[in-house]
Amino acid sequence: MNKVFITGTAGFIGFHLAKLLLNDGFKVHGYDGITNYYDVNLKQKRHSILLQNSNFDVTEDMLENYENLFYVANKFQPDVIVHLAAQAGVRYSLENPRSYINSNIVGTFNIMEVSKNLKIDHLLMASTSSVYGANSKMPFKESEKTDTQLTFYAATKKANESMAHSYSYLWKIPTTMFRFFTVYGPWGRPDMALFKFVSAIINDKPIDIYNNGNMYRDFTYVDDLVHGIKLLMNKSPKFFHNDVKKTGNSPVSPYRIVNIGNSKKVNLLDFIEAIESVLGKKAIRNYMPMQMGDVPSTWADTSLLKKLTDYRPQTKFEDGIRQFVNWYRDYYNV
Ligand SMILES: NC(=O)c1ccc[n+]([C@@H]2O[C@H](COP(=O)([O-])OP(=O)(O)OC[C@H]3O[C@@H](n4cnc5c(N)ncnc54)[C@H](O)[C@@H]3O)[C@@H](O)[C@H]2O)c1
Repeated sequence: MNKVFITGTAGFIGFHLAKLLLNDGFKVHGYDGITNYYDVNLKQKRHSILLQNSNFDVTEDMLENYENLFYVANKFQPDVIVHLAAQAGVRYSLENPRSYINSNIVGTFNIMEVSKNLKIDHLLMASTSSVYGANSKMPFKESEKTDTQLTFYAATKKANESMAHSYSYLWKIPTTMFRFFTVYGPWGRPDMALFKFVSAIINDKPIDIYNNGNMYRDFTYVDDLVHGIKLLMNKSPKFFHNDVKKTGNSPVSPYRIVNIGNSKKVNLLDFIEAIESVLGKKAIRNYMPMQMGDVPSTWADTSLLKKLTDYRPQTKFEDGIRQFVNWYRDYYNV
């Protein structure tokens, strides 16, 4: 297995995964429509870095263009497909829900069709901790029911999990769905808390702290996350019907859902204090009520990831924040 087709390579996680695999000698074909959800210069810069490696090639187009998607994937003949392109963001799904239908429902369906027609070894796709929605039993475990999504973003990702299960069953596509927990690190997303906080503090602007800071997140450092993805690429789910409890496999198809998180929940105010300490500067704090659709806490049970790969993300948030701030200062020259 050495050819990997990755969608979302101009995005935060796809960029880091492609970089890791290229460094390890894989051939990677990236596919990304460079949507304008956030700064397209940041996306283009990520692609230009990947293109320095001759084992990387890229197609800049939308997932909704099935003809071209199938054409380039078929030409590349991947062993594995990692589907990370999506309309991400919990809050934006209140403003522009249709973009989630287009990218996440139609786009993911097109990737599943490609996977069915190309007979790949393993399809891996991104879901999210947001599918746990109103679940209150912590830490969140893959085997628990997830029927109470609170945002339309989460609903489209839950739909992806169901769509993927049916295709895995019908067409025997070995499929892994990841549930990621608040990923952060260098080259991160401008719409996410760490990026927004660092940029506001540096520019003497106030930061909005929702639910008066009574929020907890399982923050996952991006290098840890992509390392976990790489290890899972080799763990294609098989039909071990009696193994459901051990590996989280579906009883009827080669399908698996795996949390990738740090398995620690961090209070938002502690996270902000760590940012202040790295920057050597206090934030101007604007305490706000809870936002619509937000959940007060996320926390991953990562025992399945550990069982499958013998690996667990470990980076302390203080260290990860320092890496992010170093990158931010360097990239924006501040
Ligand atoms: N970052 C996190 O904390 C987090 C948490 C949970 C789940 N996820 C999921 O992980 C995946 C990667 O997230 P990310 O943080 O790298 O996001 P990102 O927005 O940085 O990357 C997504 C990429 O997909 C591309 N894209 C979007 N719609 C497209 C379409 N229709 N056709 C072609 N390209 C399209 C965008 O241009 C972007 O470069 C997403 O599926 C996201 O939902 C991320």
